Amino acid sequence: MSFERRPLIAGNWKMNGLINSVDNLACILVKKLDLGKPTHFDLLICPPSTLLHPIGVLTEKSNLLLGGQNCHMAKHGAHTGEISAEMLKELGCSHVILGHSERRTDFYETNKLVKAKSESALAENLTAIICVGETEEEYKRGLTGGVVKKQILDSIPEGASATNIIIAYEPVWAIGTGLTPTTQEVQEVHALIRKTLGEKISIEESERTRLLYGGSVKPSNSVELMGLADVDGALVGGASLSGVDFWAIAESCPK
Ligand code: PGA
Repeated sequence: MSFERRPLIAGNWKMNGLINSVDNLACILVKKLDLGKPTHFDLLICPPSTLLHPIGVLTEKSNLLLGGQNCHMAKHGAHTGEISAEMLKELGCSHVILGHSERRTDFYETNKLVKAKSESALAENLTAIICVGETEEEYKRGLTGGVVKKQILDSIPEGASATNIIIAYEPVWAIGTGLTPTTQEVQEVHALIRKTLGEKISIEESERTRLLYGGSVKPSNSVELMGLADVDGALVGGASLSGVDFWAIAESCPK
């Protein structure tokens, strides 16, 4: 971890949480962050859209960051069921997760679409957390590097910089399965992502861009993963639904 890159621990709540989650999980995190000692990491939660308003009220004056899990590429219009970057911004979001593998699979999201969505996020001054990662089959066939490189090159928005994008490397086969690549494999992919960003934007920007690892991150493996040279934090699914585990993962980032 470079000292120039402050670790970010992001919680992807996915389709979990009702209004009482606001009193529980979000409140616990707000209290810990704002009443405790200054932290050496940034903490972000991405709850479902239905909770963005109540949680946004809580986080407005807090250090806890708020993000959406998706946004549409258009600013507004006839897109039933969708949410725009501007709507996320209005609710207090600073970040949005884009191109998560569940959306790439369930909603056939392509790199081109992820790029367009990222551009709409940047237009509203949201930081786009762009997710990439290979499937199990691609992993077994040794295709990880090529797949991830192509996803990066084709999904990165115009005008990308260290301040407006974050890349999350999430092997599809590691999400929610309890499986993770070896630390050596994670470091190799992250180094490749940084090199690819260097070619696509600039070496200076790539050195400052935060790269998150995601896929079965939990307190028992986070020390090792967060200690890797090119890992600057985590995108956490299941374990982000427990305040204790999410906080433990954040605390495991090197100081
Ligand atoms: P997981 O999910 O931590 O439950 O594996 C990660 C993600 O999907 O972002």
